[in-house]
Amino acid sequence: MNSDYDLDKPIEAKVGLRQGLTSYGDAHFSLFLRKVFIKALGYSEKSLEKPIIGIVNTFSGFNPCHANVPQLIEAVKRGVHLNGGLAVEFPTISIHESFSSPTSMYLRNLTRCDKTTVAQLMGGLSANKPILHLVTGPMMTGKFKGVRIGACTDCRNNWAKFRVGEIDIEDISAINEDLAPTGGTCGVMGTASTMACVLVGLVLMPFAGATAAAVSSARLRVAEKTGGNAVKLCQQSESLRPQTLLTREAFLNAITVLQAIGGSTNVVVHLMAIIGRHPSVSGTITLETFNEIGSKTPLLVDLKPSGSNYMTDFHDPGGMLSLLHKLKPLLHLDALTTTGLTLGQELAKAAPMSLPQELSCIQPFDKPLYAKSSLVVLKGNLALGGAVNKASASKRRELLNHIGHAVIFKNSIDLTERIDDPDLDVNPDDILVLQNIGPVGNPGMPEAGIIPIPRKLSTKGVSDMIRISDGRMSGTAGGTIVLHVSPEAANPSSVLGIVQSGDTISLDVEARTLNVDITEEEILRRQEDRKEAMTKE
Ligand code: FES
Ligand code: MG
Repeated sequence: MNSDYDLDKPIEAKVGLRQGLTSYGDAHFSLFLRKVFIKALGYSEKSLEKPIIGIVNTFSGFNPCHANVPQLIEAVKRGVHLNGGLAVEFPTISIHESFSSPTSMYLRNLTRCDKTTVAQLMGGLSANKPILHLVTGPMMTGKFKGVRIGACTDCRNNWAKFRVGEIDIEDISAINEDLAPTGGTCGVMGTASTMACVLVGLVLMPFAGATAAAVSSARLRVAEKTGGNAVKLCQQSESLRPQTLLTREAFLNAITVLQAIGGSTNVVVHLMAIIGRHPSVSGTITLETFNEIGSKTPLLVDLKPSGSNYMTDFHDPGGMLSLLHKLKPLLHLDALTTTGLTLGQELAKAAPMSLPQELSCIQPFDKPLYAKSSLVVLKGNLALGGAVNKASASKRRELLNHIGHAVIFKNSIDLTERIDDPDLDVNPDDILVLQNIGPVGNPGMPEAGIIPIPRKLSTKGVSDMIRISDGRMSGTAGGTIVLHVSPEAANPSSVLGIVQSGDTISLDVEARTLNVDITEEEILRRQEDRKEAMTKE
């Protein structure tokens, strides 16, 4: 007799049916019906008694960053089954940045290569189901004429060289073949790698989970372990659901990691969105928090675009485990992890790798790659709601404290049409300003904030200028670039929308300020003129 259908017995939570919730008003019938249909897939009563672990399959033939997902899923299933669970996979959409227009940010909640983890964590937090992450891992590096290359910092560096004629069309074609030599996520500290490290900081992944290469056996072992961990997590108490587990302190740890790795500017936007999904943490962490933590946190990981190495080099000296050990004085070690132990207890169980400094891209505290605040949030009359800059990726450090004249581009089309015009009135100390690529102005806030250096200057050796916009840039990009200016230019009350060529702009990263030298009256006058012009349109 199957006691599930005994009408005198209270129904148990099983086969995904939650206690007290029925689809048909009759709990026993709801369970009965669920079993009818799940059995159509061939599951036996015995397998349905096991904890069911859902595995989100992000594979897509259009997404090379997730090329290894089928093998990873096999390994996760092995881990689940070895530990007494039932693995059931289901699909989600995964979109690649390069194949989405104007930007995949528009579709973040549908997920993609470097936003997949973000979307999934947002979903997990809202659903408040026990969740663990498994990322696909970084791709390997390639080589061109003996020099290591990797997506996508070197995509940009080499393209910049090609634009000024430093390398020819044959070379750039050959480089194109080997920039992304394997599947996996971009091999530098781009947004995908940053999110992976942040997820380890939140302890939603094993320590090796951020850095093991996509094509390595280590990555498959991380996957198997994740499957096993998922079964154990299911059997643990309610306190390990994401809304309880991810406390304010856990997110502060994540921001410490972000600063210590010289992470992507995009992750400031993503973390704020993730935190916004958390009923009790939302509102307790602001952009200012990123500055507070930054001011105490040195950049310790020497990776492109701030430094010179690749993600696989970060894995070699112990990756996130070694880094978290170094960061212990700055972390909230009592933050709970998905194992039920605290972060401090987990770190105590696993010693960092010890090896000579010259073999490691993880810098010691007293010899950081960048003293502190790799990412800064700026405020001033040009960005009343804030703007973000990755100071550690500046290629002309003197520009971090600079006053210059604005050269304005109204939108990305205007930029494309004029940036390489030999008659463009611009010199290396000017400040390039691109308007209207914010969330509303160019829906989705594309990664167009890395404004190219005007060709007439780059051919003379200018490799960096201050560039300001309300858009984003790839985490793999570098330069003195101010992004996410808020309010965005499309907002009639913004100052970014009324800045004109020739205005004097001052950037002071140390003071965290971004101002334009025009009077309050002049700002109001221009805003009024603009509103009037807009009503006439
Ligand atoms: Fe997918 Fe960079 S393009 S991670
Ligand atoms: Mg990206």
